[in-house]
Amino acid sequence: MNLEQLKSVARAMVAKDKGILAADESSPTITKRFASIDAESSADTRRNYREMLFTTQGAGDYISGVILFDETLRQSTREGVPFAKYLRDNGMIPGIKVDKGAKPLANFPGETVTEGLDGLRQRLKEYRELGANFAKWRAVIAISDGIPTDFCLRANAHALARYAALCQEADIVPIVEPEVLMDGTHSIDRCEEVTARTLELTFGELKAHRVAYEGMILKPNMVISGSDAAERAGPREVAEATLRVLREHVPPQVPGIAFLSGGQSAEEATEHLSLMNTLGTTPWELSFSYGRALQAPALAAWRGKAENFAAGQRAFFKRAKLNGLARNGKYQSSMEMDTAA
Ligand code: 13P
Repeated sequence: MNLEQLKSVARAMVAKDKGILAADESSPTITKRFASIDAESSADTRRNYREMLFTTQGAGDYISGVILFDETLRQSTREGVPFAKYLRDNGMIPGIKVDKGAKPLANFPGETVTEGLDGLRQRLKEYRELGANFAKWRAVIAISDGIPTDFCLRANAHALARYAALCQEADIVPIVEPEVLMDGTHSIDRCEEVTARTLELTFGELKAHRVAYEGMILKPNMVISGSDAAERAGPREVAEATLRVLREHVPPQVPGIAFLSGGQSAEEATEHLSLMNTLGTTPWELSFSYGRALQAPALAAWRGKAENFAAGQRAFFKRAKLNGLARNGKYQSSMEMDTAA
């Protein structure tokens, strides 16, 4: 393990004014997203769509790295430049999703554990050769009556830590993503309690597995009301509760925290990040690693049509730039109106 290299990649992933684009939807997931805009999903349409995002002029000013799916890491621009090389040449670090998805946890109805550890050492070696410098593994924690159980949290924390240790062994920076889902009617307090326990157990396992905190990035959910809660907490409450939990459980050696958007609207995700970056200093960078919150407006503008390629790029650039501003608390909702953003 080359710790200096891991540290320098991790710091670059959360560089000032920048964050990560999560474009690592598996083929079934991107097919669902394409269905929502009546676009066909084939290897070629998926390639076109990802090319639209990656080749957006100026994206590298706000995007530090891109998480890819296996298929995309093996694809190229229409000029034949492998995406990993294209991204690197344009200032964006290529990364790879390596988990094999959340699967039902036997004997624990409604809960999942993420699979993908078998053969991971070999896969990481190949991904490194294909140009990936960081990886992602997502654990999924659902909130409902009686869940999550501590057993489920422990099983997922253990898998995350085994994954992270294998990544560092291969000189790949692990993004550790324990996602507490927003789905449900639960309150922000319940989300805070579950997120706190999830992070406590996750860092316990990372420590036990001797993972170097300096060479990893944490990708958590924000502490937020359930999407179907009768009353939803406002932005300031979300920002304060999220920071409270992170300050309590995330070691200061971790260079950066890159939030997932988790079903928040694009504007909400940007506003929450910006607010957190105005609430005092933190030992870690507070950044983004958004999927839907960076892509949804671009997907809607593109609609699977070649003639909308430039409109999709404009929509993507706007979200990248506004989230870049949110990195240091400089976003204001009035900027949403400015089409030149
Ligand atoms: P969202 O921002 O859409 O939640 O996606 C981030 C991600 O990478 C989920 O694993």
